[in-house]
Amino acid sequence: MGIQSNTSLDHLVTPCYLIDENELNNNVLNLKNALNKYWNNFIIGYSVKTNSLPWLLDYFQKNNIFAEIVSDDEYELAQAIGYEKNRLIYNGVLKSKETFIEAIENGSKVNIDTQRELHWLQELSQLNKKKYEVGLRVNFDLEIYCPDESLMGGEGGRFGFCYENGELKYAIDFINSLKNVNLTGLHFHCSTKTRSLNIFRAISIVACEIKRRYSLNLSYIDVGGGFFGGLKEKPQFNDYIKVISDELSKEFNCNDVTLIVEPGTAIVSSPFSFITSVIDVKSTTANNFATIDGSNFNINPLGKKTKFFFNVKYRDKLNRQKIIKKQIVSGYTCMEDDRLIVLEDYPKLSNGDQIIFEKIGAYTMCFTPLFIKYFPSVYVVKDKSIRLVKEKWSAKELLVNEISNITGCYK
Ligand SMILES: Cc1ncc(COP(=O)(O)O)c(C=O)c1O
Repeated sequence: MGIQSNTSLDHLVTPCYLIDENELNNNVLNLKNALNKYWNNFIIGYSVKTNSLPWLLDYFQKNNIFAEIVSDDEYELAQAIGYEKNRLIYNGVLKSKETFIEAIENGSKVNIDTQRELHWLQELSQLNKKKYEVGLRVNFDLEIYCPDESLMGGEGGRFGFCYENGELKYAIDFINSLKNVNLTGLHFHCSTKTRSLNIFRAISIVACEIKRRYSLNLSYIDVGGGFFGGLKEKPQFNDYIKVISDELSKEFNCNDVTLIVEPGTAIVSSPFSFITSVIDVKSTTANNFATIDGSNFNINPLGKKTKFFFNVKYRDKLNRQKIIKKQIVSGYTCMEDDRLIVLEDYPKLSNGDQIIFEKIGAYTMCFTPLFIKYFPSVYVVKDKSIRLVKEKWSAKELLVNEISNITGCYK
């Protein structure tokens, strides 16, 4: 997969994001095939926060994929894209009361994560005799099953109701005490350092245990996201879903219980590239620098990545015989440490050469639009044809909703 090497990117106005639609199709197809093979009763809920580009949400909606949302703003966005409310999975601690109630009343899968939601639910159930269904997010000690794999280690996860200290049991009893509400699902998303198969084995084992211990009659198990995807040397969707299915089938029947997965990174990371151009080269006594029109903030806003997949495209390859021992490719911002990659023993860069950063679609665009340069354009490539799907932002977009008395003359 990947963008065909003979596809010309020369005419793109950089910096810009480029989505490889074939790669995206491939990721979605691989996930669907794995689910069809091992648990043929499933819902895929795309984790909107991972990359909320409207083109992408529209793509997922057309591919029969639900939207997994975690705020009233994402709730509104999903509907603006055209999602029916019964194709939403509503998670997280930030639901507004109004959207929480509306979602439950309209058949969204709502996974309760906080005490206040339990009280909103109680109020709703007392208002009328309609039947309601909800899910609960489970907090369990993942470190017992997968030492040193969970993100917070011994500090523990902060989401959901704790299984081990009885808070989950309290929440289950609370919901069961409401006559017209059924607890129909458990939600288990875990943030991990490893994205390993063991994580999903542990989640599935605990799901079975909770169901058994509290005699629950569930219609879905939501294992969350946290998978690898689009990387050959890492576990594949088939591996993950097989592990989940092997464990879940000890307690659940595939015909009665829907498996929900909430991929973000696994689907959208690999199809995205960020294309930049060299705008200046200089030498100091210490180093050779090439400055590009992109920044670390565009592709590594959380500063967690230590290396990138990248590709260098020289404008005129023939004249680049001179090999330079070390060139630091740095971003356009004013931050000294905005340095992206070090090229060792590469031909000398010059203005107009492109540096293309690959597999950068997850937790990048949603964090970066407002520092010095605004949101870059987004293109989609399919086979060999490229089209613009989002214009770059300018000062105009930044002024939207401004209510102060601006006297400038922007039209
Ligand atoms: C509840 C929930 N579901 C799904 C995801 C997506 O996770 P990932 O991008 O690791 O697949 C997240 C990410 O934090 C999440 O919090």
